[in-house]
Amino acid sequence: MKLRSQNLVSIDDLTTEEILTIIDRAKKMAPIARSGKVSTLLQGRILATLFYEPSTRTRLSFESAMARLGGTTISVADVSSSSVAKGETLADTIRTVENYCDIIVLRHPQEGAARWAAEVARVPIVNAGDGSGHHPTQTLLDLMTIQESQGRLNNLNVGMLGDLRFGRTVHSLAYAITRFNDRIYCIAPEGLELPQEIAADLKARGKQVIQTRDLLGILPQLDVLYVTRIQKERFPSPADYARVGGSYRVDLALLEHAKPTLDVLHPLPRVDEIAPEVDQTKHAKYFAQMFNGLLVRMAVLSMLLEA
Ligand code: NCD
Repeated sequence: MKLRSQNLVSIDDLTTEEILTIIDRAKKMAPIARSGKVSTLLQGRILATLFYEPSTRTRLSFESAMARLGGTTISVADVSSSSVAKGETLADTIRTVENYCDIIVLRHPQEGAARWAAEVARVPIVNAGDGSGHHPTQTLLDLMTIQESQGRLNNLNVGMLGDLRFGRTVHSLAYAITRFNDRIYCIAPEGLELPQEIAADLKARGKQVIQTRDLLGILPQLDVLYVTRIQKERFPSPADYARVGGSYRVDLALLEHAKPTLDVLHPLPRVDEIAPEVDQTKHAKYFAQMFNGLLVRMAVLSMLLEA
């Protein structure tokens, strides 16, 4: 199945049917990923990864996905080593890189950068994070992990905890999970609430956005707790960060109040918001997320590059 949109900039570029098809195809990628063999599906195709911000999982899983499918990758992992350091504009960089590849995965500190790149580029653009904007492939792997663990995507109480203001993963997830559910729980420190325009958008779609600071109070109802890091790099000053840094932490004592089937997800990297002892519990799903990230990216690359 070919995707309707040439690009994957936000989760709203995908229909719900396309989201489910990507997850399905991702599951079928598992044997290829595990076999150690290389498929020929994307033989001869070239991926360019262009990262203007740090990344471990996203970039390496895209590159690994391409390799597993028989394609190759060219990469600018550190823009200070490219002509960006000489002052080249994003548009000119995109117009250059598209000559050398069939698809571009872009991470950029500025919200809207991927949409802008998609308007300029002739090849498909995948948004791997645009500032505090969106991160759609993260959301696809989040949904896949939830579906695998809970057996469904609907009828779930999903809570998002942490920096809902600057965190792009939760922005994409909020739009996606409310395709399947009528409400979403938002638990954020003061000043880091879900942006007003996103909450309004969801409400206009008939969804309930339940905002609270009382994690303990709502935890017993939750099926999924999506924990995020405070996005320190997006704070105007260290003093602003100090006001909220370390203000929440998921640990064993807290999880005693949770359903036995609660899934704790985190896009990673974590700082101190999930205690390491949680890793050994059946709640911890952030390791499964990482492997699913590879599978989802194999699916996305194959579908966007389908002739
Ligand atoms: C996230 C990101 O870059 O938005 N990381 C990731 O891609 N898994 C989350 C974060 O940096 O906090």
